[in-house]
Amino acid sequence: MNSESAVKRNNTTKTPSLTRGDKRFKMLEATIKRYQYQQDALIEILHKAQELFGYLENDVLIYVAHNLKLPPSRVYGVATFYHLFSLAPSGVHTCVVCTGTACYVKGAEAILANLEKSIHIHAGETSADRQISLLTARCLGACGIAPAVVFDGTVLGNQTAESVLDRIKGWLQDGST
Ligand code: FES
Repeated sequence: MNSESAVKRNNTTKTPSLTRGDKRFKMLEATIKRYQYQQDALIEILHKAQELFGYLENDVLIYVAHNLKLPPSRVYGVATFYHLFSLAPSGVHTCVVCTGTACYVKGAEAILANLEKSIHIHAGETSADRQISLLTARCLGACGIAPAVVFDGTVLGNQTAESVLDRIKGWLQDGST
């Protein structure tokens, strides 16, 4: 089965249920609105989506397609054509640290610096053992609980350099057993 038919098979044009409760979709929706739902803005919108989610997972692509009234195959085609878009995290686990203003002010930089110092992983990188992909985003729409970090798709607030490192060390331990 080619990738296009796989997308058609897996998805209707309905908005995926995953969008409910995930504030990042609200942020994405605001961006789509700002571009007035213009199909020509697809690349800019995918950029924002990748910034928010770290990579373009299937549900995100379908969400964009649904909102721009484009066939999923077209959105998928653009996302796979440009190398700057990534359709999957390369690590087993994904940690997205928000570096938007509120999170920055409340310690996002210290979170990243601690990860760099303690486990030698920089934003945008995947660890050598491919266990962890560390990404950043600019405002996840959860400023009230800043600093916010997304661990494998779950947004947690009020994070500290230590709490993030502990969680990631837990992942690393699980991966080595
Ligand atoms: S700045 Fe981090 S959630 Fe808004």
